[in-house]
Parts: sequence; structure tokens; C-alpha cells
Amino acid sequence: MKTVIFALIALGVATMAFAHGGVKNPAVLARMENMKAISDQMKGLAAMAKEERPFDAAQIVRSLEQISADAARIPALFQAPETDPKSEALPAIWQEFDRFENLSADLSVAVTEVGAPENLTDLRSAVQQIGVTCKACHDPFRD
Ligand code: HEC
Repeated sequence: MKTVIFALIALGVATMAFAHGGVKNPAVLARMENMKAISDQMKGLAAMAKEERPFDAAQIVRSLEQISADAARIPALFQAPETDPKSEALPAIWQEFDRFENLSADLSVAVTEVGAPENLTDLRSAVQQIGVTCKACHDPFRD
């Protein structure tokens, strides 16, 4: 369990170093910023799960609502096969867009299913359940 949380944080931090720098295509920038927003909320939740931040049930609900709203935007933001030298999106997205959309829906479903975690145990399992769906899409579709 802890391994998953640490892996998520490592992923987020590694990404921040090069995120957005020099992206010229506004459509690519928009989809990256949406991902970044999702990842910022996940990092907040992971920090609480690791007890680096005080547990805050109301903030957790706000973060989950934000992730849910951003997740709903993923298919539309990725629909057009936009490219940019800085993009990590793989061409497979547009060869298998149905699969991409389904994986996006999996994230939305996971966020709904975790409900409103009221203790650390529930929060940790929520972070893990949601994190699995990030990886499920990044593995086939992100370089
Ligand atoms: C349906 C597929 C899909 C799901 C689900 C998904 N991602 Fe992504 N994500 C991508 C793709 C594709 C890119 C690469 C976009 C690009 O570079 O054009 C990406 C990029 C990112 C980036 C880099 C953004 C940047 O600034 O370049 C982060 C951070 C990220 N995702 C975090 C997450 C987290 C956290 C989750 C789960 C809560 C998640 N993603 C769920 C497909 C997905």
C-alpha cells in the first residue's frame, strides 16, 4: 500500500520538473494542464494518506469532486490527434480511442466508488484505487 503512494508521489514530482515547458500547441497544453490539475489533487490526497498533512474530510471531498470534474474532460481534450514535441501522448490513443475513453471512464468510476473517506484507512484505499486507474491509462497511452 505504502509503495503505491510513494510511487504516485515520485511520478508526480518527476513530472513537475519538465511539465509544460516550451509546449507550443495550445490543445496539448490544455490536456496537460488538466492532467496536472488531477495530479495536484492526487498529491494532496497522498500527502494526507501519508500523514504529512492533517486529515481533512471536507478537503478530501473537494479534491475528489475536482478530480471527477477534470476526469470528465479527458476524452474531449484528447479527441483530436494534436501533437507537440513536448507531448508524452502516444499515437495509440487515436488508434484505440474507445479503449482510451473507457480507461478515462474507469477513473471517473473509481472516484465515485471511493465515496467520501472518513478515516485514514479509507483514504489510503481510495488513493490506491484511483491511482491504479491512472497507471492503467499511462501504461498503454503515455510515453
Ligand atoms: C484515460 C487516460 C488517462 C488517465 C485515466 C490518466 N491519465 Fe494522466 N496522462 C494521460 C496521457 C495520454 C498523458 C500525456 C499527455 C500529453 O503529454 O500530451 C498524461 C499526462 C499526465 C501528467 C503529465 C502532465 C504534464 O504536465 O505534462 C500527469 C502528472 C498525469 N497524467 C497524472 C495523472 C493522474 C494522477 C491520473 C489519475 C488520477 C491520471 N493522470 C489519469 C492519460 C491518462
